[in-house]
Amino acid sequence: MKLNIFDTESEVLAALAAHFVKIADTAIAERGKFTVALSGGSSPKKLYELLASSYADKVNWEKVYFFFGDERNVPQTDPDSNFLMAKKALFNPLMIDPLQIFPVDTSLSPADAAKKYEEEIEQFFDEEELGFDLVLLGLGDNSHTASLFPYTPVLHDRTPGVAAVFLEDQEVYRITLNAPLINEARHIAFLVYGAGKAIAVHHVLEDEEDIENYPAQLIEPILGEIQWFLDKPAAANLKNV
Ligand code: 6PG
Repeated sequence: MKLNIFDTESEVLAALAAHFVKIADTAIAERGKFTVALSGGSSPKKLYELLASSYADKVNWEKVYFFFGDERNVPQTDPDSNFLMAKKALFNPLMIDPLQIFPVDTSLSPADAAKKYEEEIEQFFDEEELGFDLVLLGLGDNSHTASLFPYTPVLHDRTPGVAAVFLEDQEVYRITLNAPLINEARHIAFLVYGAGKAIAVHHVLEDEEDIENYPAQLIEPILGEIQWFLDKPAAANLKNV
C-alpha cells in the first residue's frame, strides 16, 4: 500500500490523473485495452473533469472500457446517478463511444440489476482473468467504499460478484461490486480529500480490523497494488505518516 499525501486538492487530483494515465498506457500497450471501474459521489467529479480537459490527449480513449464500482438505484437521468455524473464530466466531453461504457441497468429491480451487471462483467472478461486494470474508490465519512456500507450482508461475500445493498437509514437500494471482485484488480486507487474524511481515513488505515464498522478495510488487492491519494486535511488524523 502506498500513501500519497498532498498539500492541496488540486495536487491530489493531478497526481491521480497522472497515475490513471500511466496505468492506462501500460494496460493498452500490454493487453490492447484498459478497463476501469469508476467511483461515484462528489469527489471524483473533478478528477473526471480534469481527465476530460487537461488529459484529453494523453490517453488513447478509444481503448478504454468504463464500468461502475457502484450505482444508486435511480434512473440514469436522475441527479443522484453515478452514470449521469460520469456522462457529463467524462463521457460526453471525450465523446466516448457508448459501446465502451457499461452502466448498471437501473430500470430493473435492484437484485436483477446486480445479477445482470455481474453477468456483463463475467462476459466481458470471458476467458481472460477477471479483474479490472483500475478500480477507483472514494471513502464515505462512515468508512464505506463503493456501496459496501457498515453492517450490510455484502460485507460477507466471499466470491467475486455484484450485489444489491439496501440502506435501511435511507430506505434506498444501491448496486455494488463486492470486495472480492474489487480485490481482483491490478490497481486500486482511493481518492479522498477534505477534513470531513479524516476520522474515516484513520479508522480504515490505522484502527484494528473491524469490517462491520469500517468496510473499506475489506479492500486489499489479491495480486495488484493499492494507492491512496489524500490531501493533508484528510490525512490529518493519521498517526503513522
Ligand atoms: C457513491 C460512491 C461512494 C463514494 C463515497 C464518497 O456512489 O456515493 O461510489 O462510495 O465514493 O460515498 O463520496 P463523496 O466523494 O461524495 O464524499
